[in-house]
Amino acid sequence: MSFLLLLSLPLLSFAVQVKNLVTFGDSYTDITTMGDGGTMWPVYAAGYANLSLYPFARAGATCSNKITPRPFPSIFESQLPLYFAEKHNGSITLGPEETLYTQWIGTNDVGVYSLVTGSNNASIVDVAGCMVDWVRVLYEDGARIFLLQNMVPLNETILYAPYSYPNFYFNGPRNTTEWSVFIRELVLSGNALSRAMLQALVPEVPGAHIGIFDSHGLFQDIHDNPAMYLNGTAPLNVTGAVVSCVYPEEGETGSVQCTTVFGTDRDSYLWYDELHPSEQADRIVAKQIAQVARGDENKWTTWIS
Ligand SMILES: *[C@@H]1O[C@H](CO)[C@@H](O)[C@H](O)[C@H]1NC(C)=O
Ligand SMILES: *[C@@H]1O[C@H](CO)[C@@H](O)[C@H](O)[C@H]1NC(C)=O
Ligand SMILES: *[C@@H]1O[C@H](CO)[C@@H](O)[C@H](O)[C@H]1NC(C)=O
Ligand SMILES: *[C@@H]1O[C@H](CO)[C@@H](O)[C@H](O)[C@H]1NC(C)=O
Ligand SMILES: *[C@@H]1O[C@H](CO)[C@@H](O)[C@H](O)[C@H]1NC(C)=O
Ligand SMILES: *[C@@H]1O[C@H](CO)[C@@H](O)[C@H](O)[C@H]1NC(C)=O
Ligand SMILES: *[C@@H]1O[C@H](CO)[C@@H](O)[C@H](O)[C@H]1NC(C)=O
Repeated sequence: MSFLLLLSLPLLSFAVQVKNLVTFGDSYTDITTMGDGGTMWPVYAAGYANLSLYPFARAGATCSNKITPRPFPSIFESQLPLYFAEKHNGSITLGPEETLYTQWIGTNDVGVYSLVTGSNNASIVDVAGCMVDWVRVLYEDGARIFLLQNMVPLNETILYAPYSYPNFYFNGPRNTTEWSVFIRELVLSGNALSRAMLQALVPEVPGAHIGIFDSHGLFQDIHDNPAMYLNGTAPLNVTGAVVSCVYPEEGETGSVQCTTVFGTDRDSYLWYDELHPSEQADRIVAKQIAQVARGDENKWTTWIS
C-alpha cells in the first residue's frame, strides 16, 4: 500500500514555505487600480498565507514595450527596473529561498491595440519569449522561486466573446465571431509556447524552482462549474459583468449605458467588467497562490523544476 502511495506522488514536488510575494504583471494583479472593483488577489493571498507583499504589477502593462508597445509601465522597461533599483540600493531585502516571484502577463500583449488588432509587428512567439526572459533576468540577479500564471480563456470575457458589444475597451468596427476565434488561438498558442520555452530554460537555471500556474484551466473551470466557486446572492453569472457599459459605436453619438450590480450580488459574477475578473474570482486565485506559498500541493500548479 505505502509502496503504491509513493509511486503515485508527483515526480517533481516542491515544498518550501515562502515569506515574501513579489508580483509582476498588469491590471489583473495591480493593487493600486483595482481592476476587480475591490481588493485584489495579491492582497488576499498575502493575508491568507501571511506574506509580505512587494507589488510591482501595473495596469495596462505588457511584457515589453519594445515588443508590444503600449503607453503603460511594462515589466521589462518599468517594473523590473524599479524592482532592481529598490533591491540594489537596499530599500528591499529578499532572501531567495523565502521569496516567491509571480508573473501574470499577456492579456494586453495579445489584446486590443496589440496582437489581436495587428497594431504592431510582434508575434505570439515574441511575447512568450519575453515572459520566459523574465525568469532569466531575475535568476541572474539571484531570485530562485518563480510562478508563471498563464493567460485566462480571454474568449470568455465580454470584450472578446462572440456576443460582445461596443465597450470601454473597444468600440470600433469588428467581427466579434472572428475576434473570439483569433483571441482563443493567441491564448492557447501563447500558453503552450511559454510552457515549452520554460521547459527549455530549465537546464540553464540550476537551482531554480519554476512553477506554471494554470489560470486558463482555473478560469475555464469557474466558467463551466460556477456553483463550485461563486457564492453571491444573485443568480450565478459567467457571461455578464458586475459593471457592464455599452458604448456608442465609434463615430456615433449617444450616451454610455451602464448596468451595475451591488453588494453581495457581486460575488455571483466571474467578471467585474468586460475584461477583468471579479473580486470573488480574485479570492479564488488568491486561495490557490496562498497554497503554493505555504508549500502545499495545488491543483493548478505544475513545478517543472
Ligand atoms: C507572519 O509573518 C511574520 C513575518 O514573517 C511573523 O513574524 C509572524 O509570526 C507571522 N504570523 C503568523 C500568524 O504566522
Ligand atoms: C532606492 O530606489 C528607489 C527606486 O528608485 C527609491 O524610491 C528609493 O528612495 C531609494 N532608496 C534609497 C535608500 O536610496
Ligand atoms: C511593421 O513593419 C513594417 C515593415 O517593416 C513597417 O513598415 C511598419 O512601420 C511596422 N509597423 C509597426 C507598428 O512597427
Ligand atoms: C472559448 O473557447 C473555448 C475553447 O477554448 C470554448 O469551449 C468556448 O465555447 C469559447 N467560449 C465562447 C464564449 O465562445
Ligand atoms: C463574421 O465572421 C464570421 C466568421 O468568419 C462570418 O461567418 C460572418 O459572416 C461574419 N459576420 C459579418 C457580419 O461579417
Ligand atoms: C464568498 O466567499 C468568500 C470567501 O471565498 C467570502 O469572503 C465572501 O464574503 C463570500 N461572499 C458572500 C456574498 O457570501
Ligand atoms: C448576467 O448579468 C448581466 C449583467 O448584469 C445581465 O444582463 C444578464 O441577464 C445576466 N445573465 C444571466 C444568465 O443571469
